[in-house]
Amino acid sequence: MGFESLEHKLVKSDDGSFTAYSTAFDEHYHSTRDGALHESLSKHVIPAFKHHQEKDELTILDICFGLGFNTLATLYYMRKEGIKKRLRIFSPEFDKELITALPEFQYPSIFDPFLEILTSLSETGIYEDEDLYIELYIGDARVYLKECQEQFDVVYQDAFSPASNPLLWSQEYFKEIASLLKEDGILTTYSMALKTRLALYENGFKIYINKGDGHRDATLATFMELKGYTIVNMPHKIACNPDVVSLRDADHKG
Ligand SMILES: C[S@@+](CC[C@H](N)C(=O)[O-])C[C@H]1O[C@@H](n2cnc3c(N)ncnc32)[C@H](O)[C@@H]1O
Repeated sequence: MGFESLEHKLVKSDDGSFTAYSTAFDEHYHSTRDGALHESLSKHVIPAFKHHQEKDELTILDICFGLGFNTLATLYYMRKEGIKKRLRIFSPEFDKELITALPEFQYPSIFDPFLEILTSLSETGIYEDEDLYIELYIGDARVYLKECQEQFDVVYQDAFSPASNPLLWSQEYFKEIASLLKEDGILTTYSMALKTRLALYENGFKIYINKGDGHRDATLATFMELKGYTIVNMPHKIACNPDVVSLRDADHKG
């Protein structure tokens, strides 16, 4: 059995790593321009670990697991940088068929040391060793957030785009996320959309620009001041765009 199906096509991104295209959402799993691996590291993993350098243990919410790049890139980055922390990752994903097919996906060779972990996740939804616990939730992320008992240090907000998956970017969604993020936690996302930033801002987040070489700008959100990044002046943005409104569940529920 190969990875490709009617729903998932294999696509090479510009950094040489493969990503996939979802026919259901009519969207790639990663930016093909920034590259799947590069996007994971620069938009999610590196800023999250830079923010939490001092902590011995991190609990991460990876929205949503997809091909698992953010989780795998986290493990890769920790090994490469010699970072020793206890790590717990929780990740909802409703596409069971995708999770089952993951061992067939062509991952970058730097992920080779973690393919056993991936196989365990694909087969049982769980991986555990002394310093690492990873758990997948096969189902709707919104249901998961309502049931979740964890408090997170990091949220990798990596759903399909607000246009194609609005219920994972709405004001109500970020309210649930805000209630699960620790006071010193950080949310990382590729989205630069004002509607996304507004939904975060309306839930008490400060918004920062994640600028870096070799990737398009992205967004970081925290409750506390985030050193080393430029804050987005949200009152000014709102004043300049008086018609902007955040996405709302009611406009997108069937
Ligand atoms: C952009 S991809 C995630 C990419 C992933 N972070 C990676 O590194 O490969 C979005 C994923 O969200 C999943 N998804 C979409 N809506 C969902 C929902 N309501 N609940 C759970 N998973 C969802 C899709 O099946 C898809 O795998």
